[in-house]
Amino acid sequence: MRIDILTLFPNMFEGFLNESIIKRAIAKESVIIKLVDFRKYSKLSNNQVDDTPYGGGGGMVLRIEPIYDALMDIKKEDPDAKVILMTPDGIPYKQEIAVKLKDLKHIVLICGHYEGFDERIRSLCDMEISIGDYVLTGGELPAMVISDSIIRLLDGVITDTSLVNESFNDKLLDYPTYTKPQEFMGMKVPDILLSGDHAKVDAWREEMRKKKTKERRPDLM
Ligand code: ADE
Repeated sequence: MRIDILTLFPNMFEGFLNESIIKRAIAKESVIIKLVDFRKYSKLSNNQVDDTPYGGGGGMVLRIEPIYDALMDIKKEDPDAKVILMTPDGIPYKQEIAVKLKDLKHIVLICGHYEGFDERIRSLCDMEISIGDYVLTGGELPAMVISDSIIRLLDGVITDTSLVNESFNDKLLDYPTYTKPQEFMGMKVPDILLSGDHAKVDAWREEMRKKKTKERRPDLM
């Protein structure tokens, strides 16, 4: 899979791309990530990419031309690339969207910054995504969130067993897990997990998933 990220702040992605599972996925070529600093597409003096809003009001607004030109370069190579805008007024991001996106060959994530972006930028996009009901300073963190959630689902990136029972796969949260020590400050590992009875362990885990979901996220059930 290929993910192109259009951003004015490519350095923000350094840690994300160079650690742990994402770093390994890139090394194995499970994913190709290309950071596109769209300031390079500005034709204005000082490489300006934003301007004041028509009608007045505070803040600066991202102009459409550098985004358009950056996208045209990508589309020339691959007309099928799916373009996704990071915006707090997009559709709320969910695991089921990650599962659909992971099957695409090529996605382009556009990160806005500043007060807002020219409304016409929306016409260049196939989809708009919000990662939650709060406003961030830009789309870079959402682009990392979305990339991370997709990359970990790609074949061979993490072991399949860790993906099977995890939260949200079937509208239930994950079951509780424990490791050594068996007892810590009076808190004990449930006996059933030490029993060696796999059928009983499976049944207990399923029961715990339902209990936890009912208590914490009844909206999922
Ligand atoms: N840009 C700023 N806030 C955002 C959010 N919550 N989701 C996606 N993009 C954003």
